[in-house]
Amino acid sequence: MTSPLSNCGRGQLLYKKAKQLIPGGTQLLSKRPEMFLPDYWPAYYERAAGADVWDLDGKRYVDMSYCGIGSTVLGYSDPDVNTAVKTAIGRGNMCTLNAPEEVELAELLLDLHPWAEMVRFGRCGGEAMAVAVRIARAATGRDKVAFCGYHGWHDWYLAANLKKDDALNQHLLPGLDPAGVPRGLLGTALPFHYNKTKELQEIVTKHRKELAAIVMEPMRDQEPTNDFLQAVRKIANETGAKLIFDEVTSGFRVNTGGVHLKMGVEPDIAVFAKAMGNGYPMSAVVGRANVMQAAQKSFISSTYWTERIGPVAALATIKKFKERNVSKHLILIGGLVKSAWLNAAKKCGLKIHVGGLDPLAHFRFEGPEGQEAKTLFTQLMLERGFLASTSFYAMLAHTPAHVQEYSRALRKSFAVISNAMSDGRIASLLKGPVSHSGFARLT
Ligand SMILES: Cc1ncc(COP(=O)(O)O)c(C=O)c1O
Repeated sequence: MTSPLSNCGRGQLLYKKAKQLIPGGTQLLSKRPEMFLPDYWPAYYERAAGADVWDLDGKRYVDMSYCGIGSTVLGYSDPDVNTAVKTAIGRGNMCTLNAPEEVELAELLLDLHPWAEMVRFGRCGGEAMAVAVRIARAATGRDKVAFCGYHGWHDWYLAANLKKDDALNQHLLPGLDPAGVPRGLLGTALPFHYNKTKELQEIVTKHRKELAAIVMEPMRDQEPTNDFLQAVRKIANETGAKLIFDEVTSGFRVNTGGVHLKMGVEPDIAVFAKAMGNGYPMSAVVGRANVMQAAQKSFISSTYWTERIGPVAALATIKKFKERNVSKHLILIGGLVKSAWLNAAKKCGLKIHVGGLDPLAHFRFEGPEGQEAKTLFTQLMLERGFLASTSFYAMLAHTPAHVQEYSRALRKSFAVISNAMSDGRIASLLKGPVSHSGFARLT
């Protein structure tokens, strides 16, 4: 289906230009307009504050979607974090000497995670995961990594697709191509599925003496069943592999710190990013001293890991998290949105599946036209003033009133989708092409 780009806003025109200048158009797959509403997603923002976003045409939307791709857990442009950051900027963000706030942040993270004794810092999630895997490899002198879930763009992880280029398909992002990843890494990243202890055991049977790490999110979409986390911990103990919990997205949502604190299983390393800096780049690799000391055997070092804004933003964010009991609010708002999805779907007879931790909620339209329905949902909600997709990442800035407004728009949009689905008319209601569901080369 062709679409007249002339009436789709300045954001789309800029994005067209971006694709000529920037391979793939954006720096993050999840921010590609094609992932939401090809040709019509506003694509760029002029300003964002609280839960509000203004596009390049000055249109205001309430963000009920990925909210800074899960990074702005307090809300956009949080005044308390901004004040702390502005003070840091005033005092000089960079220097030949180190920023003292990183020691304060290390102490705070260790207070929150009493099983751990040492911390290294980075600025991004995937990067911190690469640091954690390097430390585990250095600590064990082994190469192989058993993993489940998505962990970023680095070679250690994409190596899984060297063997079978669909190995990662069921680990969040389908279609990831390992082009450019050295073939020498073939067989070093071994996938298993969440809650499938047997799959991990099979990996252990073949690679027991070579396993450096077991890498996974302690929880994301599903609850652990049959003491899965305990079983993984036991396997790590028996093999000597280091257990790395990726809390890049799950951390600082349902409690102040890692979700693993609520699940009764302690890793050897936990990795944080996203929410801990409320939109300012910051990540942390938190671990047991005997494992973390191996960082000294390897060379892990980068200039901008020493700047000041990141730790200052994290200290201000975590302080507010504690003072305002932010996780309680995120759970409440996420739970309300999940109920709104279920109620609206029930009312019009639409079949959906709802899942995820309450603050990281998502749903899926059932049936063969699921992707078309998802695209139409985004289109209809955009027309009603919401940035919306099939995921909702709650922020402190979201109020029950936001959810009420959203629910009204949701009911109307679901009714349209339900009617169109029963008549097989979904595609004909789309103004542009169907959204992408994974990685694809853009032209
Ligand atoms: C669990 C998990 N690990 C790692 C990453 C990568 O983090 P980043 O995009 O900051 O590199 C993500 C990002 O979505 C994630 O969800």
